[in-house]
Amino acid sequence: MDKKDIQPLIIAIDGYSSCGKSTLAKQIAKELHYVFVDSGAMYRAVTLYFIENDINIEDENKVLDALKHIDVTFKNINGVNTTFLNRKNVETEIRSLKVSQLVSEVSAISAVRKKMVALQRNMSGSQGLVMDGRDIGTVVFPNADIKFFITADPIVRAQRRFNELVAKNQKTDLHEVISNLEHRDKIDTEREDSPLKKADDAILLDNTHFDIEQQFKVAMQYIYGVIH
Ligand code: DC
Repeated sequence: MDKKDIQPLIIAIDGYSSCGKSTLAKQIAKELHYVFVDSGAMYRAVTLYFIENDINIEDENKVLDALKHIDVTFKNINGVNTTFLNRKNVETEIRSLKVSQLVSEVSAISAVRKKMVALQRNMSGSQGLVMDGRDIGTVVFPNADIKFFITADPIVRAQRRFNELVAKNQKTDLHEVISNLEHRDKIDTEREDSPLKKADDAILLDNTHFDIEQQFKVAMQYIYGVIH
């Protein structure tokens, strides 16, 4: 079947931190000519705004007011999906450990989630969409056509994230990365609003022993099985 004959689908990819969800989502989007959205980048951009503007996240009124001044968008720059906070390119800053250390607390705030989920639902147009995050298959698009739930051994995940930060010349320490992952997994799975969990109809993909290409192959086999 020619790719242009394929009905545009919504593909949801959820899972633990640093499992390679965005990498897989980008590969699928490229293969199918779909829009790719990294929903975690949106929570990271909100977190960066809160840090830069000294917003006390315990202060509900301050949070609500700050949310009115936050706009998160994406632009493709030289083939790289890039995150903008109030029209400023923040792609590098949102990946820093300083943001990673607060992002799970920020994304547990219901008002933050409400605003992000509304923005995310607006991103599904006539084109197919691949979105990765924590609640995409359960809350944002419960009727998504295909759902993946990605997991991997925590130590393998931490090592991958550490290598990534080193490659980007970001100051880091493996123990700090491990404790950050454990911290985020705990908050993301235990929070009250939209906790990370596998949707009943999601396909479980454990990539501990897969490299990026093997994971992509397995996912595409499944997607083509659904499409055809
Ligand atoms: O995918 P990521 O690691 O960049 O996401 C950063 C944080 O954002 C993650 O620890 C939890 C939160 N998040 C969320 O609560 N819901 C989403 N759909 C995506 C991310």
